Amino acid sequence: MVKKLLSYFIPVVIHRKKSAVSKDLEITWNNGQLVLDSANTNYSYGSLQRILRKGLKHIGFDKIKKMQSVLVLGVAGGSVIKTLVDEIKYGGKITGVEIDPEVIQLANKYFTLDQIPNLKIVIGDAFEFVLKTHEKYDLIIIDIFQDTTMPNFLFEKFFMDRIGQLLRPKGHILFNTMTLDGKHDQRNEKYLIEFNNKPYKVKAIPRVERHNELIIIEKLA
Ligand SMILES: C[S@@+](CC[C@H](N)C(=O)[O-])C[C@H]1O[C@@H](n2cnc3c(N)ncnc32)[C@H](O)[C@@H]1O
Repeated sequence: MVKKLLSYFIPVVIHRKKSAVSKDLEITWNNGQLVLDSANTNYSYGSLQRILRKGLKHIGFDKIKKMQSVLVLGVAGGSVIKTLVDEIKYGGKITGVEIDPEVIQLANKYFTLDQIPNLKIVIGDAFEFVLKTHEKYDLIIIDIFQDTTMPNFLFEKFFMDRIGQLLRPKGHILFNTMTLDGKHDQRNEKYLIEFNNKPYKVKAIPRVERHNELIIIEKLA
């Protein structure tokens, strides 16, 4: 409790762990809230949770509540999953794919992710999962970072086509991106143009933060 109070003045690290994928992982009390950070960025809860919540709000909480199945690529501490379950009261199936087993251990210990009955966690590479799965989803949340780096496969046409195939008609993709320089801005523009064809409708949400852009894609039919 003292650490939580102190965290309104300075962040208080309570657990630090090496990770092969994300260098350092840290659990920190920050402004009275427990957050998960990698070496150079916020991974779960805190600003990341607010950003993804904004994307979900754009799609519509009521619409999401009625969905049958949601796929989350990149789980970390599971803050978007908590928004789905605790705030939106989404009761359908959630599949979370996470490459780093260390991060899931922290998620279970500090954020009780293993107590969510409608959640199934798959430890593995999102790219491989997307290739293999035969399931269809109403919402696919793509939130994949290795510290501040986004793997290239996320922007390749092959992956985009495959993600589109996994989406049910009227389904949505919520894609969280980081744009640190002009090249990243161009990469995002190209992505929006490539997806902006039938049966897809693309919406880029006005930025809340300079270095972050949320992309929403709706499959119309
Ligand atoms: C920003 S965090 C995800 C935050 C989470 N969506 C939330 O709401 O709290 C990014 C995560 O992507 C994971 N990741 C990176 N590369 C991956 C890959 N190829 N497949 C699956 N997960 C990956 C990282 O280990 C990290 O946990």
